[in-house]
Formats: sequence, structure tokens, C-alpha cells
Amino acid sequence: HRERVRSVLEASPLIPVITINHPDQALSLCQALVDGGIRVLEITLRTPHGIKAIEQVRKAIPEVWVGAGTVTSIAQYRQAEAAGAQFVITPGVTEAILEFGVTSEAPLLPGIATVSELMVGYNLGYREFKFFPAEVAGGIPALKAFSGPFPDVTFCPTGGIRRNTAKDYLALENVRAVGGTWLTPDDAVASGDWDQIAETVRGSLLDL
Ligand code: 3PG
Repeated sequence: HRERVRSVLEASPLIPVITINHPDQALSLCQALVDGGIRVLEITLRTPHGIKAIEQVRKAIPEVWVGAGTVTSIAQYRQAEAAGAQFVITPGVTEAILEFGVTSEAPLLPGIATVSELMVGYNLGYREFKFFPAEVAGGIPALKAFSGPFPDVTFCPTGGIRRNTAKDYLALENVRAVGGTWLTPDDAVASGDWDQIAETVRGSLLDL
């Protein structure tokens, strides 16, 4: 279970946080990200199209990890699993979601912003967390501070990370991957400029 979360975080240093505004774009957008070199896709449930997109992308692009993001309830967690999500990411934690994630089919990468939240998850066996919102919750200095009391915990920071700061986060020993929306610029998505998306990914990977 935890093994799978580690595999996901090790598969791709960059994880795009994807919002599907138009269902007919889901596949082309995800394919462009994969063409650029992405191996892990976080499809959020911020729009009602997320679930369907997870189902579709899982079938069409089986060679990458596909997970559900912005999961905030157990009902959504179940829907994501039913759609074939291979992992689930939450922006924050409730005890109920943390407990559900321990035995769920799709493993959970819980979002935390403080040491206290981390400790609740840690005591349930979690060793990998999303750190969100990374930039406003302390950024790199906070992650360095976490490594003192929790040397065995690794993070995927997201929230405010951009192409020019991703590298600094990834240089930390307790960071495996970083996530964000900069890989899917609104204008490129709106105009269906898939080449630009693939280029953004290639450039961002080269910058690391
Ligand atoms: C997330 O849920 O991880 C964030 O929305 C990503 O934040 P960003 O838009 O600042 O990259």
C-alpha cells in the first residue's frame, strides 16, 4: 500500500495538478503532458468532469499513474476508486479520511500544512505526505524543519511552486516530487495548444 505511494512519487519529479473544464479535452491534455515526459497525473475533482476523465485516461494511457486530486470526502474517495484512480490526494486531512485511506484500495497521499496534522497521519502509519499550500505554509524552510523530528517522512509539496522554484524543492532530501498547475497554463488549455503544454513539460523537466 505505502509501497505504491512511494512508486508514484518516484515515477515523476513533476506531478501536474489537472483540472478538466471541458470533458472532451481530458484525453488530449493528459496525452500532451505524457508526451512531454510526465509519468504521474493528478486529475482533480474540482469540476464534475474529473471522475469521468480518470476513467477515460486510465484506459487510454495505461503506462502512467493516474490519481485523483482535491478529494475532500469519503464519498469522493469511493467514486475515485470506482473510476480506477490508482492513488488519491487530499488537500488536507480529516481523521475519517486518514482512517479510510489506511485500508482503501487506492492509497492515500494526505495533504498537511502543519506538524500536528503530520503527527495524526504519522501515528496511523503514513510516511508520505503532500505539503500544501507549500509556499504560504513555510516553503523550503518548513520542509527542512520537518526533517529534524521526522527524518523518515517524505513530501510532495504543492501550492505556489513554479517552473523556476521546482528545482530548489527537489533538492531537499525529504522531497521526492513536486506538484502544481503551472504545467497546464490556462491559456494553452483553453486554446487547446497541446504542443505548448508538451513544451512546458519538457522545459520544466530540463530545468531540474
Ligand atoms: C494543488 O492542489 O496542489 C494546488 O492547487 C496547486 O497549486 P498551484 O496552483 O499554486 O500550483
